Amino acid sequence: MNVRFVSRAESSNFCAMAADVDLTQTQVARARAFWHDHITADARIYVRIRRCQTILIEPRERFNFDVEFLLEGGSGLRPERDWIALAPHLDQPVVLTIDQISVLGNVSTQDWTEFDELAKQSDVAAIHALLDAGLLISDAPQHAAMREREQSFRDGHWHPLAAVMHAFGRWDGVTSGEQVRNVGIVSFNDLVHELGDPPSHFHPRAAKEQRLPLMTPEPTSLDVLLKRRTTCRNYDISRQVPFAIFSHLLHRVFGAQAVHTVTNDVAIVKKTSPSAGGLHPTGAYLLIQHVEHIEPGLYHYHAGDHALEPVRLMPSDEAHELALKILAHQDWFANAHAIVIYTPHFLRSFWKYRNHAKVYRAVTLDVGHLSQTLQISATEFGLGAFVTAAINEVDVEQALDLEPMRESPLAIGGFGWRTRECARMEFDPQHAVWPAKKS
Ligand SMILES: Cc1cc2nc3c(=O)[nH]c(=O)nc-3n(C[C@H](O)[C@H](O)[C@H](O)COP(=O)(O)O)c2cc1C
Repeated sequence: MNVRFVSRAESSNFCAMAADVDLTQTQVARARAFWHDHITADARIYVRIRRCQTILIEPRERFNFDVEFLLEGGSGLRPERDWIALAPHLDQPVVLTIDQISVLGNVSTQDWTEFDELAKQSDVAAIHALLDAGLLISDAPQHAAMREREQSFRDGHWHPLAAVMHAFGRWDGVTSGEQVRNVGIVSFNDLVHELGDPPSHFHPRAAKEQRLPLMTPEPTSLDVLLKRRTTCRNYDISRQVPFAIFSHLLHRVFGAQAVHTVTNDVAIVKKTSPSAGGLHPTGAYLLIQHVEHIEPGLYHYHAGDHALEPVRLMPSDEAHELALKILAHQDWFANAHAIVIYTPHFLRSFWKYRNHAKVYRAVTLDVGHLSQTLQISATEFGLGAFVTAAINEVDVEQALDLEPMRESPLAIGGFGWRTRECARMEFDPQHAVWPAKKS
């Protein structure tokens, strides 16, 4: 049987390693006792196993074109069904066999089971396949990297469904901008033509005569400002955004307006947007393209010091390539002078709301608030702004060296000067930004 045993020699190596990592004498004694307990009469140590903490198993159907099926009188699309394991600590979904699903159902996610015990009641090949895939976790040295990765996920206090949604909702190398252009569905009219009418904007709950009419408001300066906010898809890269405006925007939207000390190491921060639990988990990374005094490249905004931390500087054509890539080739946004990557530190929120069903939603709402504050603020300075969720999260994580279940982008926005001509479609039916075209 292909069981991994650990020899006495390896267990004494462990003590040498323990010295390297500076354990206390008590910790070393405990570790020795652990190894001693696991040494059997023939001087071998059995590997112990447990299941990874979170897996969602999805019965997934796909359709393959099959000529024979067509000739038999079928549609030509033969359905095939797989059991897919979605485990958020892994990069990819894993296709499972029924035997493997049965093994997963037999193994605790908390308690460790000896391999031998499990092998008595389960298919050994299935156990090995699950260990290789990272769905079973073992305490054997060769699985240390996967064990640590899974432990890091465990320590994060993710709600299981939110974790699966986050991990598997992320895009990698998607070029939806190009697809939109190729398919030719650009305007709302194209959409209606393709999909039929959408559900109505207005959902009456009472007859017209029963409605209580409200007062028509007198516009204030805020109404005037809000009216001028329109998602900007036309950026004029011949002008730079002045350093003073850029600094003001970052301070207003992401900066700590006040810091209230709780203990020596802990503070509560006041910001201009609300945040669930006052935790403000969302940080801003910036891809700078055309801002006065700032070289193109990736930066992190330090909210406490109101300062930019360079992550990677790059020539402007490289910055533009990166902008296109992370924005899924939406070239109408990729020229924005400053691109803002809304990136929550999930564990900050999960510190308070542990394994909570609502907290991922709350973090998403936080990002929405920040985006609106940024868009309104950019509008006040005469700039255009945007936000999009059609982003390649995996490419962002790679560019910024982020661990996706800890720190990962939920949206990308940006701002900059508008062009004089409206080349790309913007939704401005009131002509608050663009003059009406003369017919
Ligand atoms: C969460 C969110 C995601 C969006 N994603 C995209 C997008 O992927 N591409 C795009 O061109 N606009 C995107 N937009 C902008 C909307 O298309 C735009 O807000 C809408 O058409 C209304 O226009 P307005 O913002 O000018 O009022 C997004 C807006 C929001 C709030």
